[in-house]
Amino acid sequence: MKHILVTGGAGFIGSHLVDSLLKDDFNVVVLDDLSSGKMQNLPNDERLQFIQGDVADHLLIDKVFKEFTFSHIFHLAAIASVHESVTNTYRCHKVNCEASLYLLEKARKCTALKRMVYASSAAVYGDDPALPKSEDSPTRPISPYGIDKYTAEQYMLIYNRLYGVPAVALRYFNVYGPRQNGCSMDGGVVSIFLNKFLSAEKPVATIYGDGQQTRDFVYIKDVVNASRYVMTHETASGNVYNVATGRETSILNVIQGLEEITGHKAQILFSDKRTGDIERSFADISRLRALGFVPRYSLLESLQEYVETSGEIERPEAR
Ligand SMILES: NC(=O)c1ccc[n+]([C@@H]2O[C@H](COP(=O)([O-])OP(=O)(O)OC[C@H]3O[C@@H](n4cnc5c(N)ncnc54)[C@H](O)[C@@H]3O)[C@@H](O)[C@H]2O)c1
Repeated sequence: MKHILVTGGAGFIGSHLVDSLLKDDFNVVVLDDLSSGKMQNLPNDERLQFIQGDVADHLLIDKVFKEFTFSHIFHLAAIASVHESVTNTYRCHKVNCEASLYLLEKARKCTALKRMVYASSAAVYGDDPALPKSEDSPTRPISPYGIDKYTAEQYMLIYNRLYGVPAVALRYFNVYGPRQNGCSMDGGVVSIFLNKFLSAEKPVATIYGDGQQTRDFVYIKDVVNASRYVMTHETASGNVYNVATGRETSILNVIQGLEEITGHKAQILFSDKRTGDIERSFADISRLRALGFVPRYSLLESLQEYVETSGEIERPEAR
């Protein structure tokens, strides 16, 4: 019996992907150390097997690949914190980069493997000012996190060229949606603001800078959809894809959207711009569109759904 491995499957993006795979009757193995992921993000399902452990533990990975035959691998496990990559650079490198290379070594020997999808990041573009960011834009990472993501995705591509590993790298832009951590600085800004709007009648939102800075915010359902496209599309292997909407949205626009949907007016506190924050970012997604992908969610539609489902994190059947 063939399985799909989802590393980091108990996390925000990984758990939504697991839901989608289970819906389509796949057998799924989640490997996660629960450092930021949660068991309650995962459903009780007999087709799901959970292994708690460190993706950088070679002995564990050897064991997992001995026990299961994988048709697909989604590799999302990572210390997804730019801040932590600055304060704990070596450990982050082991998890975010070296573990990916070891997985590729295993994937190389997997004859049944049809696709390996790696979760890279728009952080690889860093502070290069060219816009929109296309996959051919210069890469100028400004954090150890960005360097590790770039290195790991390039290993995906080179293992494709050298050994025919059917690997794809996805550069996620600013993903948001239910189950994202809205409590810490490492959570996405949409989730942080939404949390404030849901917990107070008069939410206080702190903006670093003037709020005109822009990002390409992409809803989790569009991200899962994009991941499923590259999982099956014949020509996807050996390529890198931006996963975004192609729309440029300012931080103030996000707050306005939340005000409109919740009916609460925010008190905005403007604080000093943070060093390292980039001014503008949005993606050219024509490469992904060429596979048939279309982003379905507008900012307002997704915020509306996010607000409506924000209690969903506590699953009644939590394991
Ligand atoms: N959320 C975004 O906007 C975004 C943007 C770009 C890239 N990404 C990438 O997408 C992936 C998923 O991110 P997310 O937002 O869902 O974050 P997340 O923190 O919710 O998910 C990461 C998961 O990996 C697990 N993990 C961390 N270290 C591990 C280890 N050593 N061994 C096993 N599991 C480990 C965590 O417990 C967590 O479940 C990450 O690779 C991240 O770098 C996310």
